[in-house]
Amino acid sequence: MTRQNPPLGTPQVRRDAREKVTGTARYAAEHTPPGCAYAWPVPATITRGRVVAVDTTDALAPSGVLAVLTHHTAPRVERPDDPTLAVLQDATVPHRGWYVALAVADTLEGARAAAAAVRVAYEVLPSDVELTVDHSGLYTPESANGGNAARQERGDFDTAFAAAPVRTDATYVMKALHNHPMEPHAATAQWRDGHLTVHDSSQGSTPVRDTLAAMFGLAPGQVTVHAAYVGGGFGSKGTPRPQVVLAVMAALHTGRPVKLALPRSQLAAVVGHRAPLLQRVRLGAGHDGLITALAHEVVTRTSTVKEFVEQAAVPARIMYTSPNSRTSHQVTALDVPTPSWMRGPGETPGMYALETAMDELAVAAGVDPVELRVRNEPAVEPGSGRPYSSRNLIACLREGARRFHWAARDPRPGVRREGNLLVGTGVAAATYPVLVSPCRATAHAAPDGIYRIRVNATDIGTGARTVLAQIAAAALRTPLESVRLDLGNSDLPPAPLAGGSSGTASWGWAVNKACTALADRLRALPGDLPADGVTVSADTDQEAGAESSYARHAFGAHFAEVQVDTVSGEVRLRRLLGVYAAGRILNPRTARSQFIGGMTMGLGMALTEGSTLDPSYGDFAENDFASYHVPASADVPAIEAHWIEEDDSRLNPMGSKGIGEIGIVGTAAAIGNAVHHATGIRLRELPMTPDTILPRLT
Ligand code: MOS
Repeated sequence: MTRQNPPLGTPQVRRDAREKVTGTARYAAEHTPPGCAYAWPVPATITRGRVVAVDTTDALAPSGVLAVLTHHTAPRVERPDDPTLAVLQDATVPHRGWYVALAVADTLEGARAAAAAVRVAYEVLPSDVELTVDHSGLYTPESANGGNAARQERGDFDTAFAAAPVRTDATYVMKALHNHPMEPHAATAQWRDGHLTVHDSSQGSTPVRDTLAAMFGLAPGQVTVHAAYVGGGFGSKGTPRPQVVLAVMAALHTGRPVKLALPRSQLAAVVGHRAPLLQRVRLGAGHDGLITALAHEVVTRTSTVKEFVEQAAVPARIMYTSPNSRTSHQVTALDVPTPSWMRGPGETPGMYALETAMDELAVAAGVDPVELRVRNEPAVEPGSGRPYSSRNLIACLREGARRFHWAARDPRPGVRREGNLLVGTGVAAATYPVLVSPCRATAHAAPDGIYRIRVNATDIGTGARTVLAQIAAAALRTPLESVRLDLGNSDLPPAPLAGGSSGTASWGWAVNKACTALADRLRALPGDLPADGVTVSADTDQEAGAESSYARHAFGAHFAEVQVDTVSGEVRLRRLLGVYAAGRILNPRTARSQFIGGMTMGLGMALTEGSTLDPSYGDFAENDFASYHVPASADVPAIEAHWIEEDDSRLNPMGSKGIGEIGIVGTAAAIGNAVHHATGIRLRELPMTPDTILPRLT
């Protein structure tokens, strides 16, 4: 890998900062075409059954109400690949909150009142919403998410575990978690002369365009989807969501532009969540802590609408050497909302369980938890036998330990008392795969010295606008100021979504390729640039789609210090420090934001976030920010993020790994391990709220 040209690797201020702070950045629901109408959905109020009648008389009575769409009156669409998008197509109610009607009116208030006046009669059928470890419907799926094998066995776990002198065996419990971005899922749709224009809050507008074209029987060229600014997604906007389908249907039905922003109270049921997980981890080791037997068995649930299997046992195939290993996933389909991608899917819950188990093993074996991880460092990826393209977990652990002053730590739990407070520290490791998808981009050089790059990347607040301009400027060897970047609408060269921590690698590779080729063309140009400039197109179908013979992952180490109030049971985070090995860091300023943002999500997962499915009602009890507690500023201490600069030539031309999600991965385990060190209490359930801790404090 050659050294990057500036401005790559420099801490550039995000290019959309001014638009964001002055409010001129417009989001999906902030576009109001002339004549725009407003829509409000009607969610099902039963847990399972059928709609037998919809009475819209009262709803349609007030002037200004344009329509109530039901499964009788809504436009018929082609069956979507994702069945959660087949809204208002039949009478089936697969779960509470599933949409059964949509009111459309001249005003938002009118639409909301009309929705409330719709009378729906149901046939109620028996329902089952509770996941248990021995649920009769559990089965082994063909694969877990991401095409990962549902089950993998190496060696003979049972025999090795039985023979191990040091053993841990525990089950870790996580309830459902919701993404809850600040900006709700929203879309504004307009039909004009057979062309559909949509503003949608989405992590990828090329896939939204393709989905709408297929569902509404249009050519992709007849649809334009804008996603210029997106107020967070966290996975819940990684696939098209019902709001965009409903807005398009309503616009088609009424002949008016239609705007639909899903109310916060409805989001929990229709835009995905992390499914609850029951994870049993068994570790068998020698007295030296060397693991000889490792089992990570995941039990989870999906909905009856679609199978989604959180691949939580996958990191156990990546992290530590064990000659005898079993990793498995089982799932059951219940009458609940459909789970989906959320904040480091697979790795985040899986590493919570595995890294808590590692801490339990450290205690059982009497080995320092940093040292335990160093001792179990594999030479090749255990699950595949492939060499790592780069793996600097040990460097992260050592650097983190140094910065955190870990060496001075007294391993005894429950002995650091400050008045009513008990204080402790914990560590956990993190990993996240290097993902990349094919992408297209064009680069244009104009005679006035301006370069224009076009790629349908989506900047969901992460800094894509900034880092892609840096990549272009570096490849063109031109100042950043001469680079203009067009992104955020589906008329641009097609691009994959902002997800899987793969955006910068995927889009940046195509931008780099187009700009490198353009620079070559310009050098070979005999005279001045032609008046209309020179354009080069590039795609990375070959290189980004190719299988690597290397195991490619980012790694990290989290260190946490907590105080536990022995009177109230409250846990507060005092310090959180992360050190990452994530390839080359292309913009230290925005990268730091990514890391500490992920760590803050991990703090929420550890202490405050959780969705309780009421078993008799079949819906989530938490459906607003008053009940679903994402961390507020006062919860978050000074968080430190650092990194090891890696020089890995087996990734992409920028040498980068994804950084969007690794910050969350091990944070909850590090905090839980610190709670154990503080109190001597091993909590195996998230979130670690006062009511779970207080009864166990003596
Ligand atoms: Mo993220 S859960 O990969 O959109």
